[in-house]
Amino acid sequence: MYTLAPLPYAYEALEPHIDATTMQLHHDKHHQAYLDKLNAAVENHPELAALPIEALLKQLPAQVQTLPADIYAALRNHGGGYANHNLFWEILTPGGAKEPNGELAAAIATAFGDMAGLKTKLVDAATKQFGSGWAWLVVDEMGKLAVYSTPNQDSPLMQQHQPLLGIDVWEHAYYLKYQNRRPEYLEAVWQLLNWDVIAARYLTTR
Ligand SMILES: [Fe+2]
Repeated sequence: MYTLAPLPYAYEALEPHIDATTMQLHHDKHHQAYLDKLNAAVENHPELAALPIEALLKQLPAQVQTLPADIYAALRNHGGGYANHNLFWEILTPGGAKEPNGELAAAIATAFGDMAGLKTKLVDAATKQFGSGWAWLVVDEMGKLAVYSTPNQDSPLMQQHQPLLGIDVWEHAYYLKYQNRRPEYLEAVWQLLNWDVIAARYLTTR
């Protein structure tokens, strides 16, 4: 059984950027629902249930021919949703470092010029993602930083990339406060990114 960790901060901790009601619904209802459906999908597959969620998502594409189609779809959608939201809560913080330092700062300078260059790429990917999905900063198979978006709950882990940060651009993440104004929500999320955590995630990929 996979489990839902409590938020690492209070529902209202990210105000005024993200409101408490959105946080409560997002974690307690949406994230919980992904978890419940993931657990239902692995109920009769103990070999899958035994895997850490990251390992399950990495090996999922190789199982597209062998798993029952409904189980494959459930793992992709709900396993992805479960893991993506675990990461999302982790890389947000009401305080914390506003800029990365160390090796991640150097890698960002190499890949994007500077933090403004990264922000432009990330906001662009998030804005242009049609419908629901996520925008990502990842370490790709060559060990390089990359920015892109994925539809629905697809995870970079499904293409063997390590996500460093992910921004949820499903409407459930922002509609109560921002309605259709996704760019305003993206600006708010940028203010909340916990670069200490993101830089530490980068070090684990080196
Ligand atoms: Fe979400």
